Amino acid sequence: MKIIMLGAPGAGKGTQAKKIAEKYGIPHISTGDIFRANIKGGTELGMKAKSYMDQGQLVPDEVTIGMLLDRISQADCENGYVLDGFPRTIPQAESLTASLKERGEKMDYAIDVDVPDEAIVTRMGGRRACLGCGATYHIVFNSTKVEGICDACGQELVLRDDDKPETVQKRLTVYHDQTQPLIDYYKNEGILHTVDGTQDLNEVFKDIVNILGV
Ligand code: AP5
Ligand code: MG
Repeated sequence: MKIIMLGAPGAGKGTQAKKIAEKYGIPHISTGDIFRANIKGGTELGMKAKSYMDQGQLVPDEVTIGMLLDRISQADCENGYVLDGFPRTIPQAESLTASLKERGEKMDYAIDVDVPDEAIVTRMGGRRACLGCGATYHIVFNSTKVEGICDACGQELVLRDDDKPETVQKRLTVYHDQTQPLIDYYKNEGILHTVDGTQDLNEVFKDIVNILGV
């Protein structure tokens, strides 16, 4: 099963992708998490990505596309995967479609987690992220057992550098300009499904499971 998560920054793509990955036993691949792991590790890729991410801009397609195509060609992706944060531009979507086509494959589902901008801005300030395993929490809506510590891996949680209100605004503008057109792209491919992302996160997940089947 090959799934793409679409949605604005903070819509809950990461939260839902993690639950999908656990339920269906497929890898959760987040380009944002890959970049953040590289920044933490001080790699060249991380240094390149950081300057864009801190400004709420997209990392250039030349860097991102190769990295993602490489990741999905690894052995653990044989039975599918859930993509979170990729594709984010029409050229990224076209590269993905072309690369899969070469192997006689295609994406099965594109799930748009729909949340209006006003709700996003209030959510982001309360988000806490684990740089160790990529888990995402919220101080009110999805809290950890021990404050500030990841339930899954025990690392300390952080407020992401790009979650400052002015950077969130910039990311929303970039989303509307460059990423929202993908909704029509996947509608035309006949695989688009929309879920109401303003519901409680377990209700959102129920709607997704209804789409994917048990
Ligand atoms: P990325 O890490 O992908 O960030 P993003 O798309 O901005 O999305 P977020 O991770 O902010 O939000 P999310 O939808 O995953 O929400 P979450 O589940 O955490 O990318 C970061 C940057 O990397 C980009 O800006 C760009 O620079 C670069 N990048 C990455 N991919 C790229 C690409 N393909 N091309 C170019 N550049 C790329 O939820 C948000 C919060 O809300 C959490 O606190 C959560 O607990 C809470 N929450 C979730 N669901 C609910 C709910 N239903 N009700 C209440 N609260 C909820
Ligand atoms: Mg995320």
